[in-house]
Amino acid sequence: MQLSWHRYKYFPYEKDIALREIQSLLRPASIQVGDNSIHVENPLRPDFVKRLVYFATASSADTPLIQTQQSLLERVSGNGVKRQSTRYSAHGLHEYKGKFNPQVAKAMLNIFDAQPGQLALDPFCGSGTSLVECAHLGINSIGTDINPLAIYLANAKLRSLGIPAESLLADAHQSLEVARHSLVMPKINDERGEYLHSWFPAEYLSEIERLKLAIEAISGQCTPVLLALASNLLRDYSLQEPRDLRIRRRTSPFPNTSFLDAYKETVQIYCARLADAQQVLGVIHSDSRAIHVDCKKAGTHPDINPQSFDLALTSPPYATALPYIDTQRLSLVWLGLLPPSEILSLEAELIGSREIRGQKKNSLLLTLEANDAMLPDQEASLCIRLQNALGESDGFRRQAVPRLLYRYFSNMADAFNAVRRLVKPNAPFGLIVGGNHTVLSGTRFDINTPEHLANIASANGWQHVETIHLQAYQRFGLHMNNATTTEALVILRAN
Ligand SMILES: C[S@@+](CC[C@H](N)C(=O)[O-])C[C@H]1O[C@@H](n2cnc3c(N)ncnc32)[C@H](O)[C@@H]1O
Repeated sequence: MQLSWHRYKYFPYEKDIALREIQSLLRPASIQVGDNSIHVENPLRPDFVKRLVYFATASSADTPLIQTQQSLLERVSGNGVKRQSTRYSAHGLHEYKGKFNPQVAKAMLNIFDAQPGQLALDPFCGSGTSLVECAHLGINSIGTDINPLAIYLANAKLRSLGIPAESLLADAHQSLEVARHSLVMPKINDERGEYLHSWFPAEYLSEIERLKLAIEAISGQCTPVLLALASNLLRDYSLQEPRDLRIRRRTSPFPNTSFLDAYKETVQIYCARLADAQQVLGVIHSDSRAIHVDCKKAGTHPDINPQSFDLALTSPPYATALPYIDTQRLSLVWLGLLPPSEILSLEAELIGSREIRGQKKNSLLLTLEANDAMLPDQEASLCIRLQNALGESDGFRRQAVPRLLYRYFSNMADAFNAVRRLVKPNAPFGLIVGGNHTVLSGTRFDINTPEHLANIASANGWQHVETIHLQAYQRFGLHMNNATTTEALVILRAN
């Protein structure tokens, strides 16, 4: 059987992962790699060829040309054949920092040979990329996240897969008509209203709020999908600089189109992509969902059962990343998911957060020095080494780095423990992990997070199978300066 690559340009790691997909799905007698295609000898499971992510077609002497599902999905909704499409199906619903590349999520499912009817867990599900890819393959899934916006978006994506695209478009047009003709003025005398008023020019806020009321008046299954699409436009019409990853006052001009016209356009693009995907996959009703819970405590949730998951996959938070939710504040408040006064405490709760609240600074230092979390030696001594490297020239942010790293490692140890209790024995767990570096007293320290997490996992119920380095892998929404060169796919197996 001859497999042909897509026509887009590949990163080297993608071709590496492609070979692993072939091994686990097709189980051929041998694989020969040519310049433009790959030859696989006697595949044991030739029917699985349609699931391959990194190939466009398969052909052999005795069968007609087969197109992979991925090539159909990417061709219809993508950027053309020259670039890999990452917004097909429901993936383009909303921006989300640190989003998975959907191809990598699906490739992980293929490498784990996940089958329809199995149950997958994404403990840090974010906006639900992996849950959508599971749904495409008929795999049931549960995602957990402590950011309510993540849960909202992930569930909106899953739900939209089950709504015929034309119904979604019809509801969107109806909401638009109501919003255009509505004279209701937004209520601004509560905490939410005051916050929004401080971040939007009055004429935009009036349109934005009228649209929200109109979408809610439809009150059907389309509502969260349409609100998510509108939410994705908010920053463009706000007084925050839309391209900035932090919150800064706007200096760039506002868009030329009205908010309602932008909503109309965004809905049309989304529905066209959804319609394309539904032509390939059909309308998918799945029981999968995202649950708002701290993954360290996921086992205490009544709908999450111990030893019930066949596999887990995730992209966990970075150690001391840029504040994740800065660019999401307007959405969190506008959608009514969080009062403005609770944003900072949510920020502080996220694993990898840079915030240390209240009196905890000193107690965290004592915890680090005594290694209260019983981290493996390598990770505990790295934190001590960083703490000892601090000098007077390091400002207060840098002073906190060793303690924050220690807290990150201990939180991840708890997460590994919690996930281990939820999966079946021998279940695989794949993590896309980025490295980091810090400069203390003028000396650069590289923090090989994939290696550290593999170590910590090994001390918490997992066996480290392998680490695959992903050169030039870039998660969306992370700033180049914050991006890393040590991104890797860490593969574990439950003991
Ligand atoms: C890199 S993002 C995941 C992005 C996701 N793969 C996607 O495609 O959108 C990491 C996520 O971990 C979440 N998170 C941080 N601490 C958490 C915790 N204790 N429990 C669950 N989720 C948490 C953050 O809210 C964030 O959504």
